[in-house]
Amino acid sequence: MSYTDYYDEQAEVTGWLGPEVVFGLAYKYVRPGDTLLDLGIGTGLGSLPFHMAGLRVLGMDASEVMLEGTRLKGFAEDLQQHDLTSPPYPYADGSLDHVICVGVLNFIKDHTPVFHEAGRMLCDGGLFAFTVGDRNADEPDELTAGREHTGTDESVTIYMHSPEQVRRLLADHALTVARELEFVTYMDDERTKRLRARAYVALRDPRS
Ligand SMILES: C[S@@+](CC[C@H](N)C(=O)[O-])C[C@H]1O[C@@H](n2cnc3c(N)ncnc32)[C@H](O)[C@@H]1O
Repeated sequence: MSYTDYYDEQAEVTGWLGPEVVFGLAYKYVRPGDTLLDLGIGTGLGSLPFHMAGLRVLGMDASEVMLEGTRLKGFAEDLQQHDLTSPPYPYADGSLDHVICVGVLNFIKDHTPVFHEAGRMLCDGGLFAFTVGDRNADEPDELTAGREHTGTDESVTIYMHSPEQVRRLLADHALTVARELEFVTYMDDERTKRLRARAYVALRDPRS
């Protein structure tokens, strides 16, 4: 089995519902034929529901292996290898109808470059839908998930951001929250190691 097939299987086994949650919050803001850029597209799980709704999907990811997983599925019109922490991204100002980022921001400590680029590339009224690791303001902002969580020898740092932090940073980049929802993710096949996540839909403020 290829790594990307394994990734898709693990998303199913661990009950990863980020794509469904994001699409459910976002569908009323999108139309068939709209363009949608998926940041950290991975194997395309986050943007597949939008493709099925008739949107034109573009994608970016740091990993060529993950991009190849999406490429093989054949629904993305443009795929670019690019690190999300390194702006500028290869799309012009105001050129996209929508941007999503699903299951990615929990691996990125500072969301500033991602929110900045989403605000720059979106057209007025465009949607930016994403998930983050969630926390209350008084809770720690990161945790290290070790072997007992990942099931491998590697540990991974998960970053959590409070709703206050997220809303403040969005506002700094002309993005206003329209919808949000807390949901649960699991780190293990048995679904015993829970992590709180939160999905947001923000809309690009009109340029004056
Ligand atoms: C957990 S997967 C999520 C994939 C997909 N969005 C989904 O919902 O299944 C995280 C993805 O983010 C990508 N990623 C993580 N950090 C990144 C960064 N700094 N720049 C670009 N991609 C990144 C990884 O390569 C991986 O494909």
